[in-house]
Amino acid sequence: MHSPFVFDLIINVLNDRKNEPWFEAIESVRQTLKKNHDFIEVEDFGAGSAVIKSNQRKISRIANSSLKSAKYAQLLHRMVKYFRPKNIVELGTSFGITSAYLAKGNPEAHLYTFEGASSISNIAQQNFKKLGIHNIELINGDFGKTLPNFLEKNLPIDFAFIDGNHREKPTIAYFESLLSHCNEHSILVFDDIHWSAEMENAWDFIKNNQSVTMSVDLFFIGIVFFRKDFKEKQHFTIQF
Ligand SMILES: C[S@@+](CC[C@H](N)C(=O)[O-])C[C@H]1O[C@@H](n2cnc3c(N)ncnc32)[C@H](O)[C@@H]1O
Repeated sequence: MHSPFVFDLIINVLNDRKNEPWFEAIESVRQTLKKNHDFIEVEDFGAGSAVIKSNQRKISRIANSSLKSAKYAQLLHRMVKYFRPKNIVELGTSFGITSAYLAKGNPEAHLYTFEGASSISNIAQQNFKKLGIHNIELINGDFGKTLPNFLEKNLPIDFAFIDGNHREKPTIAYFESLLSHCNEHSILVFDDIHWSAEMENAWDFIKNNQSVTMSVDLFFIGIVFFRKDFKEKQHFTIQF
């Protein structure tokens, strides 16, 4: 490994699988969701930014299929704990499981998490309450509208997890919007970078952007850094 930065990342963040006291509480909320077979009416934001249809979906089904696994959510938690970002953005709250991990990573941070489906975000709000988490602001609505409104506040974005609307054009658009609020210490994490040809294209575009000085491909997520102290631009693929 030729990069001391990546070496540290592997040792202190990727490979540090210690349990933390609140992991159990968050996972117990996940288990409750997985056992909840109630139906909720969900607006589908899957095709671009326009709401195409509403449908009835089982809470357990969403909990089983749409949330980041404990392994990855705990990795995001460790990244926040290690890099101490102050302003964190999550695009795609769902039931707030990964949001809880992100928010617990740095109690001094503020997490702005975005969700379009109001029935889903209501459940996320209840979960934040159950877990006693207060450093989260949930912003309800289509990212296409809520993200530009939020970015008008001109807050620096120190860390972002982009986990919603996994299509090429929207993903690139979110990257470009966030980029103008990033600094050299910001970190952007993209979910499902190899999920489809569109996401492969988006990931290629993102990692090759000239502001990106290092990318780390963990297969299920891709991470980009903008630090200027790296000697040359490098792309790493790491088994996680
Ligand atoms: C994969 S889930 C997020 C999972 C969550 N980050 C976790 O790991 O627990 C993606 C969420 O993004 C929301 N979403 C997708 N496209 C959206 C859009 N254009 N605007 C608002 N919300 C959207 C969906 O409703 C869905 O709940």
